[in-house]
Amino acid sequence: MDKPIGVFDSGIGGLTVVKELIRLLPCEDLVYFGDTARVPYGVKSRDTIIKFSLENTLFLLQQNVKMIVIACNTSSSLALPVIRRHFKIPIIGVILPGAKEAVYATKNGRVGVIGTRATINSGAYEQEIKRLDNRIKVYSQSCPMFVPIVEEGWVSDEIALRVAQKYLAPLKGKDIDTLILGCTHYPLLKPKIQAIMGKGVRLIDSAQQVAQEVRQVLIQEGLVSKNKKRPTREFFVSDEVAIFANVASRFLGEKLGKVKRAQHV
Ligand code: DGL
Repeated sequence: MDKPIGVFDSGIGGLTVVKELIRLLPCEDLVYFGDTARVPYGVKSRDTIIKFSLENTLFLLQQNVKMIVIACNTSSSLALPVIRRHFKIPIIGVILPGAKEAVYATKNGRVGVIGTRATINSGAYEQEIKRLDNRIKVYSQSCPMFVPIVEEGWVSDEIALRVAQKYLAPLKGKDIDTLILGCTHYPLLKPKIQAIMGKGVRLIDSAQQVAQEVRQVLIQEGLVSKNKKRPTREFFVSDEVAIFANVASRFLGEKLGKVKRAQHV
């Protein structure tokens, strides 16, 4: 079907999901919206996150999308159930795909989750994991400083290592064998997180899992785009375009097409 997939995030980070979608579904048209005027969501209240997420969903529906991917872990944790109640098209969040993969991956039944404060306080990952297998022990840790560190481009610096060591120290003592990177930004810190947690801990990148889930839903619902030679990719933000475009290519791993300013916020 020749309609685009809509993706939204609180800002830039959701491009880690777009990157995986492009890799797995290269023929699909995409419309991305990053709420750069109101980022970060990870420190905001449930009501505010739901309000912003509903507005972002309406904006994507105006772009005539066939399904919506909530790339933001914070929005997925707090707003997905509410949004699903209001709209008919398929809407996918990042929590369930990441939780499923963790349940599948763990051998010793001990799983760690890291994310923003709002995500961790919501208990969303823990609930999904327990729903899938209630014998699994879940250990959660919020890492709020990871987001600004990644956006500054300091992922390879000493400061990233120090901050990661501090946040991950409590998890290191819990004998986990699987760790969910429950935030759009954290895949960029993978090498540091892996070095600290050790090779025995499998890192679950929810961006990769969500792309798999999107593919499945497209197939199930008969929404796959066929044989598109030149898929379109549109990027919208709610604040200054130039600031976004600079940092964005780091998340996407390639140069972005034209970025436009959305007027709904
Ligand atoms: N996109 C958010 C998430 O995945 C991180 C940035 C924010 O706090 O808005 O939770």
